[in-house]
Amino acid sequence: MKEVLAEMLENETGLKKEDLLRLIEIPPEMKLGDFAFPCFTLSKKFKKNPAEIAKDLAGAVEKNLPEEITEAKAEGPYLNFFVDRVGLAEKVLVDSLEDGWGENTNGKGKKVVIDLSHPNIAKPFGIGHLRSTIIGDSISRIANANGYGTVKINYLGDWGTQFGKIILAYKKWGKDSELKKDAIGHLQKLYVKINKTDEFDDDARLEFKKLEEGNKNNLAMWKEFKDFSLEKFYTIYKLLNVEFDEVSGESLYNNKMQEVIDLLKKKRLLKKSEGALVVDLKKAGGVVLIQKNDGTSLYATRDIAAAIDRYKKYKFDKLIYEVGSEQSLHFRQVFKVLEKLGFKWSTDCVHAAHGLYLDNDGKKFSTRKGKTVYLSDVLDETIEKSKKNLEERSEKISKKELEKRSRVIAVAAIKYGDLKSHRQNSIVFDIDRFLAFEGDTGPYLLYSYARAASILRKARSKAKLEVGKIDDCEFALIKKIESFPEIVKKSYSHFAPNLIANYAYELSQKFNEFYHDCPVMGSENERFRLEIVKSFRATLGKALGLLGIETLEKM
Ligand code: ARG
Repeated sequence: MKEVLAEMLENETGLKKEDLLRLIEIPPEMKLGDFAFPCFTLSKKFKKNPAEIAKDLAGAVEKNLPEEITEAKAEGPYLNFFVDRVGLAEKVLVDSLEDGWGENTNGKGKKVVIDLSHPNIAKPFGIGHLRSTIIGDSISRIANANGYGTVKINYLGDWGTQFGKIILAYKKWGKDSELKKDAIGHLQKLYVKINKTDEFDDDARLEFKKLEEGNKNNLAMWKEFKDFSLEKFYTIYKLLNVEFDEVSGESLYNNKMQEVIDLLKKKRLLKKSEGALVVDLKKAGGVVLIQKNDGTSLYATRDIAAAIDRYKKYKFDKLIYEVGSEQSLHFRQVFKVLEKLGFKWSTDCVHAAHGLYLDNDGKKFSTRKGKTVYLSDVLDETIEKSKKNLEERSEKISKKELEKRSRVIAVAAIKYGDLKSHRQNSIVFDIDRFLAFEGDTGPYLLYSYARAASILRKARSKAKLEVGKIDDCEFALIKKIESFPEIVKKSYSHFAPNLIANYAYELSQKFNEFYHDCPVMGSENERFRLEIVKSFRATLGKALGLLGIETLEKM
């Protein structure tokens, strides 16, 4: 509906449609109108006060109102609109039950590549990697809903000097039996041990050089560490219900270093500095190390090679890196080097950064109590708690059903707890708060969904659907449902799943108000109200789907 209004106002105000869409708001009270356009921004341009402008605009549009709008009325500095409630309701109740509800075709024929999750092998799956997995997966789903094809790439941290250290440490102190028991734990211990002194640094560098040169023994060890790590990571992905189109990693690009060097040389961008090769971006990003003085490659070099390769392969419309904001300088540098190399598509590379997870006391979560937190333990703990909550609340259910519900609720709690804030904010990782059934939480949303499902299960209405007069309590919910497609568009243009998350919450609140104020079963409007419930259920289900959250019919 906002689109209809924006299109109508484009001519009269001379403002762009995007700006109008941003400005149009919902009045605080329904009796004022269904939508409002505040005229403040126009007063400079028209050299009049906003109230006069509102009056003028009302007069101008009144003659030519689109059929969806019944009245345009100036109210102080606002131009308020009333919509044709019946027309809108009839349309929404049909559209929202269609397969593609909320979707659009803006991205038709275009591809979006998303670099997400990307944990480092031989190390525990970090909490930052959890954020990237959750947010990246949701961005991908939102891109799909906007018509884009997507490629989700899990770009593992499986290369770099640290593997020289890990290999050396394993050769010195490693135990096969420990590796089999708990590979990541064992390798982590060895890594900590070898980092205690610098006496092994030279030997470790040598081991990495050997690895880069393809030494069979080192490669075999590296491969084993990688396989063990992936096995562990996959238990997490399975639980979270996240899949990838491609699992690659930094190791794929170590032998592409020469290509990058040649390209940089051709453009005269490369400089020697103390035996190393660098690009000096000066004010635009400082010095970027391309090749170390021992001839080995670096993180940035591999990312430059990877981006070039991805463009060749996918001709992407956008390449989105869902990575923590502590890496902003790195991505600024990588994008700048690509630009200097003359790749026009460098402007389509985006660092969709995320903030940190904090502990209850405001400290960085991963250093809780000074020791590493294993994400799989955190997830298990969350599922356990969710199970307890369920056992206290619900009627007896089978063990299998209990397992399923507690997993779905736990995952919803964690995903929603993350996605409800803008990705750039740091968030407090507080499982108990995430798991609460009341308030702005994942379980509250699932519960609202299940409540609607339960009403519909019990419904036996045979009455014919008639859309007559529409009460405020009904219309508030219908109007909210109607705005879903708009939110889907907006959330893609900002790579902001939080817009969908917040929408899902507001939608559920409206539903619960509706349920409280408008009795459904046995009411005169039973059939109509059931249709609204159906519409709500479908819309909330879609919104949760875009967040990667599964729903439950019963809770
Ligand atoms: N593995 C890296 C880390 O944990 C993140 C990789 C991000 N993706 C990229 N193309 N650089 O810090």
